[in-house]
Amino acid sequence: MKIILLGAPGAGKGSQATKIAKEYGIPHISTGDALRANIANGTQLGKKAQSYIEKGQLVPDELVVGIVADRIKQDDCKKGFLLDGFPRTIAQAEALASLTDIDYVLNLVVDFETVKTRIGGRRMCACGESYHISTYSSDVCAKCNGKLYQRADDNEATIASRLEVYKNQTAPLVEFYQKLGKLIDVDGNKSISELFEDIKVILNGNN
Ligand code: AP5
Repeated sequence: MKIILLGAPGAGKGSQATKIAKEYGIPHISTGDALRANIANGTQLGKKAQSYIEKGQLVPDELVVGIVADRIKQDDCKKGFLLDGFPRTIAQAEALASLTDIDYVLNLVVDFETVKTRIGGRRMCACGESYHISTYSSDVCAKCNGKLYQRADDNEATIASRLEVYKNQTAPLVEFYQKLGKLIDVDGNKSISELFEDIKVILNGNN
């Protein structure tokens, strides 16, 4: 099962990806997480990516395509994988098509006002858990007791830039995958658990 999760910043890709990966036993490949790990570890790739991420711009295609190409060759991807935040440009989608076939492209459809509220209230833990201030009031992680923080690119100016980039560079992928007959729209305005139920119906072939 090879799946792409498409959707605007804050649409809920990461939240659903964690659940899907667990339910279907496939690796969750997030280019955003991979880039942030490279920045935290001070790698050459991280140094190149940092200024783009801080400005809410896309990291150059060749850097992210390299991450994904290496990752999907690994043994644990033989039975499938879930791509979260990749592809994000037509060039990335074409590069991916030259590497592998994809079974499902799930497009999380959410209005921009909702995603702004979601990103603005997101709090992260170093262990990977993510919370929202509307449903979680503590400043420590419920799983590991780590101190919660706001992602460096989750500020108002950068969010505006990320949404603009999404409209101009990533939204065209909807038509790209529609033409290939792969795209399935999902109503991302629903709650995390309702949305996951809808996704399971699709992936279990009952849609
Ligand atoms: P990336 O890390 O991929 O971020 P993003 O696409 O901006 O998406 P987010 O992580 O902000 O949101 P999400 O959709 O995962 O939502 P989440 O589930 O967390 O990319 C960051 C940067 O890296 C990019 O700007 C770019 O610079 C670079 N980059 C990454 N990939 C790249 C690529 N392929 N090419 C070039 N550059 C790349 O949810 C958000 C919040 O809402 C959470 O608080 C959550 O609890 C809450 N929430 C989620 N779902 C729901 C729901 N259904 N109802 C209510 N609340 C919800």
